[in-house]
Amino acid sequence: MNIGVLTSGGDAPGMNATIRAVVRAGIGYGHKVFGIKDGYSGLIKDEIIHLNAHSVSGMLSLGGTFLGTSRSADFMTEEGRKIAAENLKNREIDALIVIGGDGTYHGAMELAKLGIKIIGLPGTIDNDIAGTDFTIGFHTAVQTIVDAIDKLRDTSNSHQRCSIVETMGRHCGDLALFAGICGGAEFIITPENPINKELMFKRLKEHKEQGRRHAIVVITEKIVDPFELAKEITEKAEFVARATVLGYIQRGGSPVPADRILGSRMGTYAVELLNDGIYGVCVGERDSRMVYLPFANVVGQKRPKNEMYRLVKKIS
Ligand code: F6P
Repeated sequence: MNIGVLTSGGDAPGMNATIRAVVRAGIGYGHKVFGIKDGYSGLIKDEIIHLNAHSVSGMLSLGGTFLGTSRSADFMTEEGRKIAAENLKNREIDALIVIGGDGTYHGAMELAKLGIKIIGLPGTIDNDIAGTDFTIGFHTAVQTIVDAIDKLRDTSNSHQRCSIVETMGRHCGDLALFAGICGGAEFIITPENPINKELMFKRLKEHKEQGRRHAIVVITEKIVDPFELAKEITEKAEFVARATVLGYIQRGGSPVPADRILGSRMGTYAVELLNDGIYGVCVGERDSRMVYLPFANVVGQKRPKNEMYRLVKKIS
């Protein structure tokens, strides 16, 4: 079989480890593997390269994606997708493995309608894909955020300040939740755990009066302006606050072991599914086991609210 592999959407640490697994497992099972440059955009432009075992050596520890990625506007059009499918057929690529988030899966569903055998792997720092406990890149991003919180606590404590830390995550609060728990945050505000400003001001004021020297508030992006929130906390809770937006720092860096393992397992599993004639599905990890689900069961679906939210009130 000829297998194509691409990364699409926001890059995530562990994507390279995943590509490496697809290439090495693919070759091991007797297939040829081709890398598509810059996601769906490279598929339309026919930027496709043959990958051998050597092409992916040294990739396990590298952040980003060596194939490149994009959010392709052309691929959103029917015309663009037809060209992409045509290019795959002309190159005699029998199946495609795509690594990315919800938008990537949307694209995969559309390509499947054009007769392409396709498998999706969840690669995004946001952990916002239904059907998997964890996405590739999430653990590394949590580590990055925890490192930042630890540093911010040092300076907050020195100056007796409240630190607001804004994380990525869009519609999913898992980055803020996991990092907030690891970083001992007093408040974790996410789409699943909305802000109650009055309560927050009251508690922070009490903290201050009790003599606490610092407080940490972790908040998912796109909920409130963190700099405005810092002003409000300073005035209403009488706790001087500063905001830090972590931004794209969260997407980079060498993947932690959990992401290298997840990418290695998922990449290998995707090739094994193709060996068994299974496609039109996306892969997940559930209770530490590899599983697969039809795209339709996953795309656009929300994950249930994480039970760890109850910890925030208990131990912060
Ligand atoms: O990778 C996912 C994500 O990090 C979101 O949390 C964030 O909102 C988005 O990507 C930003 O991506 P870009 O600016 O690259 O489109």
